[in-house]
Amino acid sequence: MTETAPAPAGAAAAPVVLAADHVTKQFRVAGGKLTAVDDVSVEFREGQVLAVVGESGSGKSTLARMLLRLLPVTSGAVLYRGRDITRIKGADLRRYWHDVQAVFQDPFASFNQFFTVGHMLRRSLQTADLGGETAEQRIERCLGYVGLKPEDAVYKYPHQLSGGQRQRVMITRALLVDPKVLVADEATSMLDASLRVSVLNVLQDLRRDLGLTVLFITHDIGQACYFADQVVVMEHGQVVEHGPTDDVIFNPQHSYTKRLLADVPNLKGSLKSQRLG
Ligand SMILES: Nc1ncnc2c1ncn2[C@@H]1O[C@H](COP(=O)(O)OP(=O)(O)O)[C@@H](O)[C@H]1O
Ligand SMILES: [Mg+2]
Repeated sequence: MTETAPAPAGAAAAPVVLAADHVTKQFRVAGGKLTAVDDVSVEFREGQVLAVVGESGSGKSTLARMLLRLLPVTSGAVLYRGRDITRIKGADLRRYWHDVQAVFQDPFASFNQFFTVGHMLRRSLQTADLGGETAEQRIERCLGYVGLKPEDAVYKYPHQLSGGQRQRVMITRALLVDPKVLVADEATSMLDASLRVSVLNVLQDLRRDLGLTVLFITHDIGQACYFADQVVVMEHGQVVEHGPTDDVIFNPQHSYTKRLLADVPNLKGSLKSQRLG
């Protein structure tokens, strides 16, 4: 594992790990075509937390699914370490799906209610390279990263866990295969405020301890700014603003960003005091 210090906001030195290069997605809908993502180019640098923020319907999940190779692009390229992954197959694609992992909004929907957490996690390990570890050791280590003890999770069924625990288990599952990038699409949106902060802190720790690049997708610009080094703002499928978090908060360029910020009146003050404290 490489040691990656948390990159300062705006650091240009870290290499680009994942990039969208003029990516467009059109869906066929009754009466014609809908452009969900419209010529988006954006770069994600190693070890950074990058937030993609925009109102519902702005194209965030569609972009995420193309980055994850879960949805084909209409045009453009997705570059992983400089290589276009939009047409890779077989072993290359399986490798990509290890390197770039996802955590989605509703952890309950991702569980099979008849399987214990341990069973589910072991299944996810079937294709993983365990190095020198046993499956149990790998599971215990990854549960540790999210602050869960094996005895609190492994023998439990999904309905026996709280929402926050379920989301931690889903993060654990993503970590089992030693990913380089974690894409979290509204991963904290169904949690109440205190649990949300604790899951955000887990993601921060993963960046610090594992050098993970985190792509954090949210409709909530407050969460985005609290948490990210860089913020990308999407409106109607387009990137309207992209920069270091402080620039976006304190010097927004686009009227849409200003409008989103106006909805969170205490953001600047609370961010300032949080940083001073
Ligand atoms: N499979 C699909 N078929 C048709 N339209 C879709 C499909 N998926 C998403 N859309 C549309 O694309 C736009 C962007 O959706 P989405 O990426 O889910 O936005 P967000 O995640 O920002 O809420 C919306 O207008 C949505 O209705
Ligand atoms: Mg979405």
